[in-house]
Amino acid sequence: MSEKLVRGRLLSFCAKPQARDDDSAYRYIEDGALLVRNGTIAAMGSFDEVRTQADEGVQIDDYRGKLIMPGFIDPHMHFPQMQVLASYAGSLLEWLNTYTFVEEQRFSDSVHAARIADHLMDEFIRNGTTTASAFCSVHPGSVDAYFTAASHRNMLMLGGKVMMDREAPEALTDTPQSSYDDTKAGIEKWHGLGRNYYVITPRFAITSTPEQLEAAGALAKEFPDLHIQTHLNENKNEIAFTNELYPEAGDYFGIYEKYGLVGDKSLFGHCIHMSDRERDAMFDTNSVAVFCPTSNMFIGSGHFDWQNMEGDQKQGRIGLATDIGGGTSISMLRTMDEGYKVLQLQGQRLPPLVSFYQATLGNAEALSLQDRIGTLAEGSDADFIVLDATATPVMKLRMETVFDLEQELFLLQTMGDDRAIVETYIAGEALKSKLGG
Ligand code: GUN
Ligand code: ZN
Repeated sequence: MSEKLVRGRLLSFCAKPQARDDDSAYRYIEDGALLVRNGTIAAMGSFDEVRTQADEGVQIDDYRGKLIMPGFIDPHMHFPQMQVLASYAGSLLEWLNTYTFVEEQRFSDSVHAARIADHLMDEFIRNGTTTASAFCSVHPGSVDAYFTAASHRNMLMLGGKVMMDREAPEALTDTPQSSYDDTKAGIEKWHGLGRNYYVITPRFAITSTPEQLEAAGALAKEFPDLHIQTHLNENKNEIAFTNELYPEAGDYFGIYEKYGLVGDKSLFGHCIHMSDRERDAMFDTNSVAVFCPTSNMFIGSGHFDWQNMEGDQKQGRIGLATDIGGGTSISMLRTMDEGYKVLQLQGQRLPPLVSFYQATLGNAEALSLQDRIGTLAEGSDADFIVLDATATPVMKLRMETVFDLEQELFLLQTMGDDRAIVETYIAGEALKSKLGG
């Protein structure tokens, strides 16, 4: 049995904060400790209390003064776009056609896919992201590379091959039948193996014929526990083209409804230009809207209306994600910062307690995985991070005038990046410090 104590200032959310200073939404322990046993959090509490539950002579990882919280979760990103990051374009469709659909063709090469997957997982660890949901490329081999790299590090990862059979270069298209067969084979190979979750992944309505969306719907019916991920209402030209391709559906969300692709395991990236009907249909079906602020600002897609998608009764389910490589940073700290600014521009607020809740427990809830990840609660998988709000000289200077937890969190999200992540624990193992520079 492997056992260790990890000591520091513990912060873990138990609910969504209902106000800027809602201290009933989290547990904070100034001199706390986690008892980690066989990859699981066996106890969380004050150091003195938890120490009594550990074996004599137990290893103690001592981070006194530093903040320990659950690892960040990124519920929408594209694994084959690590080398699309920072590509100059005027709009979504131009960006996709000029760079993305060219780059993704390289993932037919399994050596290339394996190399990028290794870089991706290391970059997640460097940035304190312990779980993500990724769109892989159209090639089944890209899924093999992705889950192989995740399994090698014992990371809990979600992903699937994109299904796309039109409106893309021929080398990047499948067919309704091959996408069904390859997805099914991928599910049988990877889903539930170790910590892996396969996600049914029709890229978006433009790149799928009705026959392919039917195949995706058939898979969703056959495997009702699986997640589904796609894109929705990101850009106005995209929406106009989508409506031309599916004139009978009524609206964009209606397409996914028609093919049985909506529900509480369905994740819709962007959701920017939403009609009231689409928003209400998302509420009714418990579907998840995933906010990707650095991507939306970079590609110029628009501003996610958080208040509208959250709903008056807070019935809307929301995720917060990087959308690499439309997004400009793999860091969830940078993503929270940009999210705050997108809301500011609309006269809305995103208090730091809410953004840190969102990047941890909130995103775990968006993925329906809150029983496993997203908190430091006993019984959770031991995926957690250690943060330092004095990581750079200017952060250290600013910390001289920070006097409470909320201010510290806001400083971390406004000024922090991978340098503020001291350590990343995956299933109880400290992995960041093992990476090379
Ligand atoms: N819509 C369809 N594919 C993509 C993609 O790769 N990135 C973004 N941002 N939007 C998409
Ligand atoms: Zn995306």
